[in-house]
Amino acid sequence: MSRVADKVVLVTGAGSGIGRATAKLLAAEGATVIASDIDSAGVSQTVAGIAKARAETHDTAKEADWKRIIEGILAREGRLDGLVNNAGISGPFPATFETETVEQWQKILSINVQGVFLGCKHAVPAMRQSGGGSIVNTSSLAALLGTPDLSAYGASKGAVRQFTKTVAIDCARKGYKVRCNSVHPGVIMTPMGESILPDERKRERVRKAIPIGEFGAPEDIAYGILYLISDESRFVTGAELVIDGGMNAI
Ligand SMILES: NC(=O)c1ccc[n+]([C@@H]2O[C@H](COP(=O)([O-])OP(=O)(O)OC[C@H]3O[C@@H](n4cnc5c(N)ncnc54)[C@H](O)[C@@H]3O)[C@@H](O)[C@H]2O)c1
Repeated sequence: MSRVADKVVLVTGAGSGIGRATAKLLAAEGATVIASDIDSAGVSQTVAGIAKARAETHDTAKEADWKRIIEGILAREGRLDGLVNNAGISGPFPATFETETVEQWQKILSINVQGVFLGCKHAVPAMRQSGGGSIVNTSSLAALLGTPDLSAYGASKGAVRQFTKTVAIDCARKGYKVRCNSVHPGVIMTPMGESILPDERKRERVRKAIPIGEFGAPEDIAYGILYLISDESRFVTGAELVIDGGMNAI
C-alpha cells in the first residue's frame, strides 16, 4: 500500500467519477493528495476522512487558479511530484459538427484543452524544483476514433493526446526529469458516462460493442493512472494507455 509513498500529487476534476477514484487510490497508496474541482462540495466529499488529502476549489480553464493552487502546494506541502489533469466536460449530447455552436465548442476546448495546457505549464516548473515528476492527462478513446455525436469533445481529446507527446518530448530532451503520458478511458460509468447513455436500449447496444462485455468502473482508470504516477513507470513517457475493455482493438 505504498506505491506512491511520499509523493505530493494534484488531481483535478476530483469531485466526481474518475478523478475521485484516482484521488482516493493515490492516497491509499501513500501519496499526499490535493484534490481539486470546480465543484467545491463534490471535492470536499472526496477528501472527507482521508488524513493525507485536502480539497481546493479550482476552475482549470483559469490561469489565475492554477497559479494560486501550485503556489499554495509549494508553500504548504513544499513539493509537487505528480499532476493528474483529469477535469473535463463532454457538453450537450448529441452535438454533431453541424449542430455544435461556437460558444459550446470554445467552452469544451477551454476546459478540456486549455486546462491541460495550463496544468502542464504551471506544474512543470514546480516539479523541476522538486527534482522531477509525472503528469497524466486524461484523454479518451474519443481521441482515437471518430465521434460524430461528440464533435468538439472528440477534437478536444485528440488535442490532449498530441499535446501530451509534445510535453513529454520537450521535457525529456531538456533533461527536466518530468514524464508526461495520456490515459484513454473507454465507456466508464460515471455521471459523464451516464449522461451520454441516458436510455436503457442504447446503453445495452453500447455494452454489447465492448469486447470484455461490460462498462468500465472509475477504479479501472485510477489503477492505470497510479502506475503512471508511480516510479514503476520511470521509463514511460509520451505513451498512451488505452483502458477500454478492448473497444479500440476491434
Ligand atoms: N466517463 C467516461 O466514459 C470517460 C471516457 C473517456 C474519458 N473520460 C474523461 O475522464 C475525465 C473525468 O470524467 P468523469 O467521467 O469522471 O466525469 P465526471 O463528470 O464524473 O467528473 C468530471 C469532473 O470534472 C469537474 N470539472 C468540470 N469542469 C471543470 C473545470 N473547469 N475545472 C475543474 N473541474 C471541472 C466536474 O465538476 C466533475 O467533478 C474527463 O476528462 C473525461 O473527459 C471519461
